[in-house]
Amino acid sequence: MKKKNYKFEFEVYDSIDELQETDAKLLTKARKIVETAYAPYSNFFVGAAALLKNGKTITGTNQENASYSVTICAERTLLSAASTLYPNVAIETMAISYHNYNSNTHSDTPLSPCGVCRQSLLEYEDRLKNPIRLILSGIDGKVYVISKTSDLLPLSFTGEDLRK
Ligand code: THU
Repeated sequence: MKKKNYKFEFEVYDSIDELQETDAKLLTKARKIVETAYAPYSNFFVGAAALLKNGKTITGTNQENASYSVTICAERTLLSAASTLYPNVAIETMAISYHNYNSNTHSDTPLSPCGVCRQSLLEYEDRLKNPIRLILSGIDGKVYVISKTSDLLPLSFTGEDLRK
């Protein structure tokens, strides 16, 4: 028996003020777009903004449905838009923010993408052969910067597995 170790590092900033300008701008866009999310059932509003390799910025928000499982997360809304508008352009960085409108919460701790979104982000990384940097933060407070999405999904299942 052998043991294997999985380890990854990410950056933690106290606030948006510590980020470099391009990252701060992208996070500000994500924080702003949060307001336009359609989340009447959970009141958990999520916004994402991505900077593409061609310099364009694309945004996405969560889109809920009365049939709850039909809901699309902000990250996947964004990926669908990116893939439609600029099919062959890689995503350099994606900022993700949220505001939880339920009582007693401050939305000031970073949000990590859900498992389904991690899988979708990984497909995008693989497809365009380019790591997607993630900037994770609430509407305020600390910011996490993760250099590639695949770090969040060890032992992942990808298109390569279908060829095994
Ligand atoms: N949500 C996202 O948009 N992104 C995530 O990574 C986590 C969850 C949305 C889905 C649903 O509309 C609400 O947040 C509560 O789960």
